[in-house]
This record gives sequence, C-alpha cells and structure tokens, in this order.
Amino acid sequence: MLYRLIYISEAVGSTGASTLSIAQILGISERNNRRDHITSGVMFHDGWCLHAIEGARVDIDRLMRRLREDRRHTNIRVLVDKPIAERRFCEPMGLCHDPLAMLRMIGSPEMASITGYEAERIVDIRLAA
Ligand SMILES: Cc1cc2nc3c(=O)[nH]c(=O)nc-3n(C[C@H](O)[C@H](O)[C@H](O)COP(=O)(O)O)c2cc1C
Repeated sequence: MLYRLIYISEAVGSTGASTLSIAQILGISERNNRRDHITSGVMFHDGWCLHAIEGARVDIDRLMRRLREDRRHTNIRVLVDKPIAERRFCEPMGLCHDPLAMLRMIGSPEMASITGYEAERIVDIRLAA
C-alpha cells in the first residue's frame, strides 16, 4: 500500500532562501529517497516549506522522524496523509521553481493557514503543467 503525506513547516535561517541551502537538501533527499523508493516534491516560499512525500508507510514514517529532528525547519504540520492508488511524482525529490505562480493559480492562500485541499491542488497543478 502506497501513501501520500503532505506537510508544511517553517524554514529556519536561510533554509529555502539560499541556493546552497536548497542544494544541500536536494542532494541528500535525492540519495535517500531513491534508496527508500520515495517520490517527492518540495516548494520553498516566503519562509515556508511545503513538501509532498509518496511511498510505503514504513519509509514515510522513517523519513518523517528524520524531518522532525532537522533544525533547518520547525513546526511541521501534516496537511494530508492518505493511501493512494498510484504515485503522482516520478522523481525522488523535485523542486518547484515557480511557487508564486503555483499559489496564484489556487487563489494565493496564506501559507500559515493553507489547507490539505489547497496543498493537493498545488500538487495537481504542478503535475499537470
Ligand atoms: C524541507 C526539508 C525537506 C527535506 N526532505 C528530505 C527528503 O525528502 N528526504 C530525505 O532523506 N531528507 C530530507 N531532508 C533532510 C532530512 O531532514 C535529514 O537531514 C536527512 O534525511 C538525514 O539524512 P542522513 O541520515 O542520510 O544523513 C529534508 C530537510 C528539509 C529541511
């Protein structure tokens, strides 16, 4: 059984704002997610991290434990956690390069109060693009 979990968190320091911080996260994620058969996409915007993860329950739970210990972000809030019939992402870790455009398409919600429904719409729009 496959699951999709989407969470939002608050970036700490330069996380998501500097190219180096993003490259460091993408590098380790690419390696680990490939190993764990996790597909995923992340968006950094205005001090927020929005991250969708797909995979087996045990692999998602193990990744979430590591993510909760990572001081580069804080206040992780799970928006979606549900079984899925098939994956929507095809890469171990994809980066959304145009977060503003994506958010505008769903009516520019406040990141602080974004809902699971809105997060899923972002995933749908991104993958349809
Ligand atoms: C916003 C954000 C997203 C991350 N996404 C992933 C991920 O998809 N996969 C992953 O293995 N690590 C991810 N990390 C890094 C993990 O928190 C952790 O540092 C890493 O998995 C540790 O890997 P290691 O045990 O191989 O050193 C992310 C970190 C942040 C801040």
